[in-house]
Amino acid sequence: MQELAGKHIVLGLTGGIACYKSAELCRLLVKAGATVQVVMTEAAAQFITPVTMQALSGRRVYTSQWDAREPNGMPHINLSREADAIVLAPASADFIARLVQGRSDELLSLMCLARPMERVPLLIAPAMNREMWSHPATQRNLRQLDADGARVLGVGNGWQACGETGDGRMLEAVQLFEDIVAQFQPKVLAGERIVVTAGPTFEALDPIRGITNHSSGKMGFAIARAAREAGAEVTLVAGPVHLPTPRNVRRVDVVSAADMLQATVLACEDASVFVATAAVADWRPAAHSEHKIKKDGGGKAPSLQFVENEDILLTVAKGARAQGGQLFCVGFAAESENLVEHAKAKRARKGIPLLVGNIGPLTFGQDDNSLLLVDADGVRELPRAPKLTLARELVAEIAARLPSRSRR
Ligand code: CTP
Repeated sequence: MQELAGKHIVLGLTGGIACYKSAELCRLLVKAGATVQVVMTEAAAQFITPVTMQALSGRRVYTSQWDAREPNGMPHINLSREADAIVLAPASADFIARLVQGRSDELLSLMCLARPMERVPLLIAPAMNREMWSHPATQRNLRQLDADGARVLGVGNGWQACGETGDGRMLEAVQLFEDIVAQFQPKVLAGERIVVTAGPTFEALDPIRGITNHSSGKMGFAIARAAREAGAEVTLVAGPVHLPTPRNVRRVDVVSAADMLQATVLACEDASVFVATAAVADWRPAAHSEHKIKKDGGGKAPSLQFVENEDILLTVAKGARAQGGQLFCVGFAAESENLVEHAKAKRARKGIPLLVGNIGPLTFGQDDNSLLLVDADGVRELPRAPKLTLARELVAEIAARLPSRSRR
């Protein structure tokens, strides 16, 4: 996916061992279609060579305000005017302090000061030792940068190059990449709280076995990511899947349908949107055996009894209606045939404004899908595309239907 096609990113490197991660970030940005102009401080060049960054970006790196390449002799103006975003990764403690003071005695800080604030966002990825990170001076400086209109992307936690363990590591390249992509998404859900269920559930028969299904959780995770990119606060209630949590999304892991119901009802208490993508098991074994069910040796299979699981979507939607609440509920229908018919019937049965239909066997485990939106006005298809693209389209469709939005 060329998620950053047409975008020009100025990637600023300051002195820190995390510079090695910026090489990977640069590669990810270029791969996603962005043009990348690297600017490095003298200290950054102690950690990684400009030649490395030149090779990865395909452009000569700027290191000095006296760079003779610029006909007008003003690289700080030209570079900052061309940018769609400036990303400082790594941003050292010293460089952060310099930004706070509005210092401008070398190219990178000069360029940041000269940035047209209203149209060029400044994203900052700090990287430093844990003591430096937690020092009141650094924390005060970061609050000031935030107040001055920069976006501080946070730090990771773990082993540090100095041998200590704690907060202050630079975020990983893929995490920074996700944040940069998110920066460019329209904030159509700003101020909303959204709950998404995703993945399968697992209904245990005994400590070894259980009943589950082929849902990969990819669509739900993509919706959670898209909603977060659109500015919402997101809780993702996830069944047993092995997918990384999207950036800045609160994840609650559950196993069974009963656990999912409980977690979802709780999360929906103060939510404005609920999207049920989970493939919840319709039935659970009537009895759970404490020990493994053994073969009887006579070739007779055990006779299993099932009871129906509560319908999470139905329960949440009903509860919200009973309280006269404003929760906008979106359901999914995974069918194997007669999609339109089943989707319409399901929307009516669940009493929800929007139902999204898809053909289960064509979506489970895949990276792309096509969706059918069914609402009071009829049926509309979102043609086959990567799940993240569809998720962003769906988020825009949801935003357009929210009563709180149409009143604005
Ligand atoms: N759903 C739910 N809780 C359940 C079953 C389904 O929240 N116990 C939600 C799903 O997350 C989805 C929608 O209801 O948003 C439809 O799920 P689906 O499995 O397609 O349909 P069912 O309601 O189970 O109906 P059927 O099995 O007859 O197709």
